[in-house]
Amino acid sequence: MNQPVNILGIESSCDETGCALVANGQDVLANIVASQIDLHARYGGVVPEIASRAHIEAVNTVISAAMERSALRPDEIAAVAVTSEPGLIGSLLVGLMAAKTVAWVWDVPLLSVNHVRGHTYAAALNDDPIDYPALALICSGGHTAIYDCRSPVDQRLLGSTIDDAAGEAFDKVASILHLGYPGGPAIEQAATTGDPKAVRFPRALLKGQSLDFSFSGLKTAVLYHVNGVPGTRRSGRRRELPRVHHPGGIENFDEQEIADIAASFQSAVVEVLTAKLARAARRLRPRTLLIGGGVAANESLRAAVSELAGELDCNIRLPKMEFCLDNAAMIAGLGYHYYRSGCFAGLDLEARATVRH
Ligand code: KG4
Ligand code: ZN
Repeated sequence: MNQPVNILGIESSCDETGCALVANGQDVLANIVASQIDLHARYGGVVPEIASRAHIEAVNTVISAAMERSALRPDEIAAVAVTSEPGLIGSLLVGLMAAKTVAWVWDVPLLSVNHVRGHTYAAALNDDPIDYPALALICSGGHTAIYDCRSPVDQRLLGSTIDDAAGEAFDKVASILHLGYPGGPAIEQAATTGDPKAVRFPRALLKGQSLDFSFSGLKTAVLYHVNGVPGTRRSGRRRELPRVHHPGGIENFDEQEIADIAASFQSAVVEVLTAKLARAARRLRPRTLLIGGGVAANESLRAAVSELAGELDCNIRLPKMEFCLDNAAMIAGLGYHYYRSGCFAGLDLEARATVRH
């Protein structure tokens, strides 16, 4: 029997330090994630300098823990895959230096993986291979994008956000509603008792054929709904603004009203994400729809995309919860396919904070 190809993956693009061991791009033997959520929570968002420092402190420990959990010896590792882009530059550099060091010491090849494309592979982990061609909707704290995936290594970006990412909008709206950080799970929880039709928030870029996204107007609409519209003057021209019920701050809203805002906001995000995916799917007729990224943990998005796949007669692939948020298993999993394609990186590989593919 052929020996499995074990890839060690390292992820450090934002506020999670991850190391994973994945066999044949499928079986996750270890997936260790050191989250920094507690460190950043009091600032209401990720502080880049704190993130870099925390990665330095955690990276050796997560690599040792992953090796121990997998029970593999270094001579059983075929290659090291690392997130080299996009992300916080200081954070990326820590994972990249660790990966280069491990690859050099163990004398194995290095594989460069794009973080957002890594999310397109999460649904294949500990599960069946994806039936390509697939359309991937990736929505996380830093990115919102749709990819046309012909194979794990052949992906084309069809559209992305022109301002805030979907997860970023969840985080900012949770902050406006004083629901805490990170915002996604908090909004989802509050929304369970809310009426998604209570407030009609705007849905951006739904007209025309665009596959790009915009969420900053929605976030501002929630802000105006809660705090009132600042400096609204009669300019003679009628402006379309959301109706303001209780200007003056979140203190004036009761629990039910906050739940209603959370549910109405969530339904606006889910509707836009699903509508764009439907638009791309009608154009490209993929075999599979898949989602990835932190927002893919959201049950209402999972349900809406599953329903869409049913309508379009496509397969639906939803990542397991542990692979929605940032992790190194998706990096090692996708790295396996680069390994098989002979797509190796040199030890001079550089980190890139921003990329548009
Ligand atoms: O993929 P991820 O871990 O990090 C990035 O690559 O950015 O995604 C984190 C984002 C955060 O904005 C968080 O609020 C959001 O995913 N998130 C959710 C849920 N769980 C996490 N958004 C909506 N519903 C959730 N259940
Ligand atoms: Zn991510």
